[in-house]
Amino acid sequence: MKTQAPAQHQDPDKFIETQTRLSASPLVPEIQLHQASEDFPIWKMSEEELADYGIPSPFWAFAWAGGQAISRYLLDNAALVRGKHILDFGAGSGIIAIAALKAGAASAHAADIDPFAKSACYLNAKANNVELTATTDNLIGSPNKGWDIVLVGDMCYEQPLADQIEEWLRGLVAQGTDVLIGDPGRTYLPKSGMEKQATYRVQTSRALQDLDVGSTKVWKLLASR
Ligand SMILES: C[S@@+](CC[C@H](N)C(=O)[O-])C[C@H]1O[C@@H](n2cnc3c(N)ncnc32)[C@H](O)[C@@H]1O
Repeated sequence: MKTQAPAQHQDPDKFIETQTRLSASPLVPEIQLHQASEDFPIWKMSEEELADYGIPSPFWAFAWAGGQAISRYLLDNAALVRGKHILDFGAGSGIIAIAALKAGAASAHAADIDPFAKSACYLNAKANNVELTATTDNLIGSPNKGWDIVLVGDMCYEQPLADQIEEWLRGLVAQGTDVLIGDPGRTYLPKSGMEKQATYRVQTSRALQDLDVGSTKVWKLLASR
């Protein structure tokens, strides 16, 4: 039987506010996010059902293991981002951008091609009393637009995408930009040309990760493999 579509899906802000509740994720108790839970219809809807209603998979409705790990790392090592301009690439909920701002970043730009994610980033920033900017532009391949650090949480889940991102980001590193990647050991994570910065045990709020999430690492990307 088809799950009834949430009525407010034409308006991302309304959809998010009615289909989620503010809650923290296990590794980052400091940050409240609009997250899905068993109580709301999107939890029960399959990807196909969501697509029928024009709703992309709600990646923004959870704090993924990689995003939680980078956020924890920034909050515990605030000097890394203090006064810096950061890009949260593939932002989802915007947890990384919000953590960077809480750690003292001068600005945070959240990029996610899903318009629901863009709305979630703004709503989540507001819930945490920080201000970010957000875009749905696909930035892969674009030149550095003033970012000191690019932060990437859990983006290595599909091969063509992971390959494109790696090539783009290594190019940015070669030009002097720092890039940190948070990842729970996904198949398409680069196998070399990275330096491990930290390891965390991360639980996610849903069995949404297609792997058994145990240890999640923060990596510094190098210019070459
Ligand atoms: C697994 S989620 C991770 C979200 C967040 N970084 C975290 O760790 O919680 C991956 C996100 O990447 C976004 N995404 C996929 N392709 C993208 C692209 N080319 N540019 C920006 N975002 C993209 C998806 O919409 C999704 O929100």
